[in-house]
Amino acid sequence: MPQAIDFPGLDGFLGTRASLMLDVVFVSMFAVNAVMVWSLYQLRSRGRFSLHKWTQLALATVLLVAVTAFEIDMRVYGWEARAAGELEGSAGLLVWKALYVHLVFAISSAFLWPFVIYRALRQFPAPPAPGQHSRSHIFWARLAALDMLLTSITGWVFYVLAFV
Ligand code: HEM
Repeated sequence: MPQAIDFPGLDGFLGTRASLMLDVVFVSMFAVNAVMVWSLYQLRSRGRFSLHKWTQLALATVLLVAVTAFEIDMRVYGWEARAAGELEGSAGLLVWKALYVHLVFAISSAFLWPFVIYRALRQFPAPPAPGQHSRSHIFWARLAALDMLLTSITGWVFYVLAFV
């Protein structure tokens, strides 16, 4: 276990080399996906469209705040100094590859989520109910949900490779 004092920024709580914000996001993504599955269950098997709407809006808000705090942490302190590479404070090629795969999903999600939400808010009635926008929403929203799941999985892989 390295000395916490060696690293820039605040240390996390998971006992790895990661920073506090990396740990917060690592754990939060379990909650985000669990809540999303719950939101879709409420929608599909109980027809609770309003609950789905507000849950998705709450999730998007939490994600926006968490990702902004996370981005600031990464810009200010970076992550590579904490990485468990062959050389102290370095990251191997595999870690960089894992990061780029993760970024493909993370960046596409950052565009897809606002796009899905904006269109849903404009085109579904209030309170929300199935209608003309359904076909398009089901296609894009499923893609957005899958994108978020893949963002999480690839993020967890990157975290384990880089910091554990
Ligand atoms: C990024 C945010 C959102 C995601 C990921 C999402 C996800 C989904 C998914 C995957 C479905 C299809 C479920 C199935 O497979 O049958 C769905 C359906 C639906 N969503 Fe969303 N949703 C989001 C935001 C919203 C918002 C903001 C509203 C309301 C303004 C909304 C209203 C609806 C409605 C009414 C349906 C039912 C469509 C139908 O079955 O005809 N969604 N959503």
